[in-house]
Formats: sequence, C-alpha cells, structure tokens
Amino acid sequence: MQTIFSGIQPSGTLTIGNFLGAIQHFVGLQEENDCYFCIVDEHAITVPQDRLELRNNIRSLAALYIASGIDPEKSTLFIQSEVPAHTQLGWMLQSISYIGELERMTQFKDKSAGGKEGVSSALLTYPPLMAADILLYKTDVVPVGEDQKQHLELTRNLAERFNNKFNDIFTVPEVSIPKVGARIMSLQDPTKKMSKSDENEKAFISMLDEPKKIEKKIKSAVTDSEGVVKFDKDNKPGISNLLTIHASCSGESVEALETKYADKGYGEFKLDTAQVVIDVLKPIQDRYHELINSEALDDILDAGADKASYDANKMLRKAKKAMGLGRVKKKR
Ligand code: TYM
Repeated sequence: MQTIFSGIQPSGTLTIGNFLGAIQHFVGLQEENDCYFCIVDEHAITVPQDRLELRNNIRSLAALYIASGIDPEKSTLFIQSEVPAHTQLGWMLQSISYIGELERMTQFKDKSAGGKEGVSSALLTYPPLMAADILLYKTDVVPVGEDQKQHLELTRNLAERFNNKFNDIFTVPEVSIPKVGARIMSLQDPTKKMSKSDENEKAFISMLDEPKKIEKKIKSAVTDSEGVVKFDKDNKPGISNLLTIHASCSGESVEALETKYADKGYGEFKLDTAQVVIDVLKPIQDRYHELINSEALDDILDAGADKASYDANKMLRKAKKAMGLGRVKKKR
C-alpha cells in the first residue's frame, strides 16, 4: 500500500484535459492505496478570483471528484484552506526555497510574461505550497499531468534539502504521469495546453458541457488540410490531439484508430470523437447534478478535512521541531 496525493485548482470548471490527465487515473489508484485528493483553493488565489465564483468552483470540483468515481469511503477528499497545516508548512518550505529556482518555473514565467508589476507574489511562491501539500502526508506517488512535472522535481529537491539540513522526516515522492492523455491540447491552438482558464471557450471541453456543445466544439477544432487521420504531433497537432482524446475516452489505441479512420474524412472522425467524449462525460454529469446541492457533499468534505488535519498536523509538528520553531515546555 502506497500513499497517493494529488490536487486540482478550483479555478474554473474542469476540462476534459484535467479528467484525462489526472482524475481518471485517481479512480483506479483508490483500490490499493491510501489516497488524498485535494481541492487546492489557496493555489487558485494566486491569480485574481471572483469570490462567489471561487466558492461555486470549490463545491463544483468536490462534486466532480465524487461523480468521476472518487469514493469518500476509500479516499480522503478535502479542501486545502480547511487544513491550515498546508500554508503553515508552505511558509516553512519557502524559507528554504531560492528565488532563482522559483523564477525558473515555467508556469511562473508564462503567467508573468506580460510584466511582473501586476503579478501576485504568491504566483512565485506557489511551488513551496504545492510541496507542502504533498510532503504533509508522507506521499509516495503523485499522479499528475505533464505540466506539473517541474513542480514535482522542485518538491523532491525541497524534501531532500529539508531532510539534509534539519532532520530526515519527509518522504521524497515519485511522480506518475500517464502514457496517453498527459497533455491534452487546446482545440483552437493545438500547440498550447488545454486550460480551464482559457479566455476562448471553444478552446476547451468542460466536464459539464452539454452533448450539443461538445459536438460543436470538436467539430470546430482546428486541424489541417491534409485530410488524413494520422498521429503526427509536430506536423498535425490538431488531429493528433483529437486522436489522443478519442483513444483516452474509448480505450482504443491510437494505432487502432488510425487504421479505423484510414479512408475516412475528418468530419466522421470528429463526430465519433465527440460521441466517445459524450459517452464518458454523460454519467459523470448525471451524478454531479444529484450531488451538487446535497448535504451529503458537506458531510464528506467535513470528514475529509478532519482526517487530513489529523494526519497533516502530525507531520507539521515534526517539521516545526526539526526547524526549531515554537518552544519545548519546561518540566514542572
Ligand atoms: P491544475 O489544477 O492546473 O490541474 C489539475 C490536474 O490536471 C492536469 N492537467 C492536464 N492534464 C492533461 N492535459 C491538460 N491539458 C491538463 N491540464 C491540467 C494537471 O497536470 C494536474 O494533474 N499545481 C497543480 C495543483 C496542485 C497539486 C498539488 C497537484 C496543487 N498542489 C499537489 C498535485 C499535488 C495545478 O495547478 O493543477
């Protein structure tokens, strides 16, 4: 049995990219492992958020986790801001993070590309908080999409640095990235990652999009003029992305799909791709609508926060002791 931790930001409705790169893989892991899945709302405020929208997104993400198959009987599902140990350890890990290494993070570079004046400093110090999320639970494996690989490398470095400098208390986690679906691309610019915060709604499929909308978005996905359904990431990024989505949703291999659509046009391929996406999302959406306004959802999140706090505080106490924070009470 291993300990698994992963988190998702409530910064918009999840996309099919979040599902195929992350959540889908979480579900299978629950059977054999001790899993923690987190709604990382404190990460979401590194960019401006509307408070009511953020509240809705937090609840919606919790319901989507469960609707996708996260079983609260087997896994601990909780909201990051309801377990204060995360920001406490995050601060401690900031003290051993170097500005240089944080500035080298691709995500920080991308999001601050327009100039640093209006960029929140939390965007820079976000990776030590992410490291804290993971290290609090003695995590062995972190399942994520490809874009999080660099943050995971930093987490490993911080764990080793802390262990060498203070005391050997943290487990150095491994990253697990799926072979197919680790980087689903934008439907409108297939050289760019699909993102839930994209301004162009046509660029992503939300997990809550209605079937008609999914079909429309896939039909208008940018492809090429060659007319051949073939995987070629460099020369045919649009078709390759749709092949990846189709394969990940249907369970068929990319090669089998290439053969199946060898003498068929993009129109038919796109319609079938939309259908397999709809088939995967429809039952999740039905469960989501049952859950979203239920008290049961609050009970699950309360229990998750209690369990996570208990475990996280044990590690936080060890980390404080290792760093010399607080005091040792005098014997009476
Ligand atoms: P976030 O919220 O951006 O994404 C959540 C998960 O979805 C994956 N993902 C994708 N996978 C495939 N294709 C895509 N287009 C795509 N977009 C997103 C992400 O890789 C991720 O696994 N920093 C993290 C959240 C986080 C976290 C953690 C993750 C905070 N603390 C601790 C793991 C462990 C993030 O912003 O993910």
